[in-house]
Amino acid sequence: MEKIFVTGGRSLNGKIEISGMKNSALPIIFACLLINEECILENIPMVSDVENALFILRQMGAYASFIDEHTVKINARNASLIDLDLDIISKMRASSYLMSTCLSRFGSVSMAYPGGCNFGVRPIEQHIKGFQALGATLIENTDLISLKFGKRPKNTKIVLDKISVGATINMIMASAISDGITIIENIAKEPHVLDLIAFLNICGADISLYENQIKVVGVKGLKGIRYRIYSDMIEALTFACCVGVTGGEIALQNVEGEHLEGVLSVFDKMGISHRYKNGALYIKKNASIRGADIVTAPYPAFPTDLHPQFSALLCYCDGGGSVIEGIFPNRFAYAVELEKLGARLNRVDNKIIIEKSLLHGATLDATDLRAGAALVVAALGATGKSTINNVNYIVRGYERLVSKLASVGADIFCDVK
Ligand code: EPZ
Repeated sequence: MEKIFVTGGRSLNGKIEISGMKNSALPIIFACLLINEECILENIPMVSDVENALFILRQMGAYASFIDEHTVKINARNASLIDLDLDIISKMRASSYLMSTCLSRFGSVSMAYPGGCNFGVRPIEQHIKGFQALGATLIENTDLISLKFGKRPKNTKIVLDKISVGATINMIMASAISDGITIIENIAKEPHVLDLIAFLNICGADISLYENQIKVVGVKGLKGIRYRIYSDMIEALTFACCVGVTGGEIALQNVEGEHLEGVLSVFDKMGISHRYKNGALYIKKNASIRGADIVTAPYPAFPTDLHPQFSALLCYCDGGGSVIEGIFPNRFAYAVELEKLGARLNRVDNKIIIEKSLLHGATLDATDLRAGAALVVAALGATGKSTINNVNYIVRGYERLVSKLASVGADIFCDVK
């Protein structure tokens, strides 16, 4: 099992290239199942979730591979429907996008329940509700989801009961190719949703975004294109948390700054300043930093995917701070690990209050993708050596996290067993 070894106390200085956004890459890769032509996707991160998505498409008969370090070629012309009870489907939340794309292309799908990071139940009733509104029937089964399109209504209005990134994406992909109009309300507007809409519209779809509504005018088919996805806002903000802990100044290259402004305005007030120069985003920590109290919510609010890393940062802030988790109330498995480092914190329901603490090295266990990243953030400032187990979680969504941090001065390495 791979482990990460960190000796805390080094400040970070230098340049880091931000990779493409995992949560953009995954829906756009699966969206290629809707297209019977070659697509070239640029700025794709080499992370295990992307490798798994490409593997699934190849299992279906599509061509789907990296053709250089960050460029993927997909041609789903020869893809066919298979029994999608592959083990990796139940390990990855993004495999839920197979429901919409297979329904749209093949008229039916039967697949394992999509997995995802293990911070509580990951229901899909909003997805099912939407598919049924679009004319699909759900065949209840113990361990498989089976859906089949019957007569599809000409015009459909789907009002999601919860703001859901995955359900919004699935409704878009289930209705892009149709002969009717679909209205989706109570939508998620994360950058990765907008990235998918942009990709599909350039492929020939007709998708419009309004204040709290997406309108999809169905088209007969889509064409293959070359497309560059957004860079990873959570990766960039994770590195900003690292600098907040260690001090120094790093230049983040290949970022879309507008996606980061909401969080960076919080960091400014804490004493972690930012400026743009020559296309790079410079992040610098002042002499001392103050804590903050944040609530996670759908974009453009503070992102839930930065919650664990921000909690690690709060351990080093004067006055400490708090996080109220507004999306995944059980996303707190990292807290026990922070306490192994000496963190003083108190969790009540979906709120965690963190005091400034002197952290020391420890042996830690990553429990999910962002919790694992949080342990790296915390260990960078701790006195002494830390070991982080279960690195497989971290490599799901961070490309070369260890080598990027080492390149700006962190004392960090990963052993490959
Ligand atoms: C996506 O998950 C991301 N995953 C998550 O990132 C991210 O945390 C989440 O969006 C929120 O931004 C991918 O993009 C692959 P949701 P998703 O549907 O789509 C509830 C990471 O670290 N809900 O927006 O599964 C749900 O339980 C991962 O990269 C229902 O109740 O999230 C949650 O409380 C972790 N029923 C809330 O809605 C449903 O049918 C938001 O979930 C669907 C969702």
